[in-house]
Amino acid sequence: MFQRIALAATILATPAAALAQTEAKAEFALPELPYSVDALEPAISAATMELHHGKHHQAYVDNLNKALAEEGAPTGKSIEELVAAAGTYTPAIRNNAGGHWNHTFFWESMAPADQRGEMSEELSQAITEEFGSVEEFQAAFEKAGAARFGSGWVWLIVNGDNQLEITSTPNQDNPLMDVAETSGTPLLGNDVWEHAYYLTYQNRRPEYLAAWWDVVNWTKVSERFDATQTQ
Ligand SMILES: [Fe+2]
Repeated sequence: MFQRIALAATILATPAAALAQTEAKAEFALPELPYSVDALEPAISAATMELHHGKHHQAYVDNLNKALAEEGAPTGKSIEELVAAAGTYTPAIRNNAGGHWNHTFFWESMAPADQRGEMSEELSQAITEEFGSVEEFQAAFEKAGAARFGSGWVWLIVNGDNQLEITSTPNQDNPLMDVAETSGTPLLGNDVWEHAYYLTYQNRRPEYLAAWWDVVNWTKVSERFDATQTQ
């Protein structure tokens, strides 16, 4: 009799426990790609996109949810809040929160040919003032991306002096983090982890960096720049 009651209690308790677990895991979710996986070909292959979004980004989301649940970190924080205080969390939260924010930003920084638009006059002028020309900016951005040792990101940011600046961060760090060497508001970021390009470009990271301009969503980058100028 007692056994039956205990068994019934276990069965009754299971849905609640499962629900609690589901809630904890669902704190962050993988966003849908804003285009189809083959929309950025040939610069970025469908196979790369499937793996990068469906496996790598998914893993950052899953591992972030897991780390938050396991480490009893405060819940209800936005991804921006977690990133901004990255230095106060464990490496698991810092790396996976960065991975989630960076990749979400990355997908939105690119678009298919008919949706990329053009750089705004204001952004073009600011880039020319800072770097000499758009071409010189692109060359400097590619150089910084190629020079990042190991895995990381290369960024165009608006820094604390309201100037455009190219920076690079290791691993899944970004310029919004309290631990960033150079802080600022990212306008554009390219992922220079091997998983971003290896299937097509193998070890030729500079080739990937050069081809990537073909998929940059200048409409989005210009909007981000505008937002920094109207704050
Ligand atoms: Fe990546």
